[in-house]
Amino acid sequence: MTSKLTIRTSESADQSYPIRFHSTFRSAAADLLKATRGRPLFIITDRNVHSVYRNEIRNRILSERPGSGIFVVPAGEKTKTRRWKERIEDWLLAQRAGRDAVVVAFGGGMVGDLAGFTAATLNRGVSFIQFPTSLLAQVDSSVGAKVAVDHPLGKNLIGLFSRPAAVYIAIPLLSTLPEPEYLNGLAEVIKYGAILDRSLFRLLEKSSGPLLRRNRDLLATVVRRCCTLKKTVVEADEREHDFRRILNFGHTIGHAVELLSDYSLRHGEAVAIGMAAEARMSVRLGLLSPGDEERLVTLIMKYGLPVSLPRRMHPHRIITATLRDKKSAGEKIAYTLLRAIGEGRTGHLIGPGEAERLISP
Ligand code: GLY
Repeated sequence: MTSKLTIRTSESADQSYPIRFHSTFRSAAADLLKATRGRPLFIITDRNVHSVYRNEIRNRILSERPGSGIFVVPAGEKTKTRRWKERIEDWLLAQRAGRDAVVVAFGGGMVGDLAGFTAATLNRGVSFIQFPTSLLAQVDSSVGAKVAVDHPLGKNLIGLFSRPAAVYIAIPLLSTLPEPEYLNGLAEVIKYGAILDRSLFRLLEKSSGPLLRRNRDLLATVVRRCCTLKKTVVEADEREHDFRRILNFGHTIGHAVELLSDYSLRHGEAVAIGMAAEARMSVRLGLLSPGDEERLVTLIMKYGLPVSLPRRMHPHRIITATLRDKKSAGEKIAYTLLRAIGEGRTGHLIGPGEAERLISP
């Protein structure tokens, strides 16, 4: 193992969990086997990840642990439903997964959310491990204990906070990610820089070449940096009473755009559009300088991500969709906005009419 971070929340210090960083898949798999000591592993993955890693999973994990199994779901956000949760439950019960079962999410954010939610309710809760294979899952969704499925009315509307037993991060897995999936994760990396870390933002500005070429050392630095930032946030406010909402920068508009696109836009693409729109709101409210907005938009574009609201989505439709989102508080929506690069601020309550005006191009 290369290194480790431990998440210790104040709400329950005895339920801390490690993020274990590895420089090879092989050492991460060996570490997972060691930590789960003979217990059956039930791996949930998606078809895309399975097509690339089926042999490694079989040879390095399943063949080493009798009684284990793998369940493969279709790739994409549309699988993150109650229906697929039920199918996984039926499979786990048919496999006689008992209280000693360990559910392992081997995949991106969708797989982590779906498998984590399933593990949290099976037999009133079985052990769950995050083994993120996408950049987005490594820097964001695998850490922080949020698990959920979507509903036609919005993303992540049915779920809970449930901590993983551990998170295993193997940086080389990122080298097989399709390009759009990789860029998808970079949107969340940019978000961390924008809301919390000016020096990360500068690193992203200066190192776009090697980062786009997926330089492993740089990726290891960036992924660890983002996990450290996420640790700071979830340790302070795991249940999202206030400070954790800082991570929602770009997500209020982003979730609405993602939903209205019927998930044809990836999460990161929608968040990139959301960050540009919410930076525009910040400028129009006199919080952010136009120069900082320009820096953010330039950086997002440098990484090949979109910044404009889709033409087919009128701002009125977007804001109406945000009202159904779970972050709404009565008529007004709480936005996380920017005061400067590296300085996000939560809790800006804005009504629908004003929000529509503020995001309009
Ligand atoms: N992805 C946002 C959060 O974990 O709160």
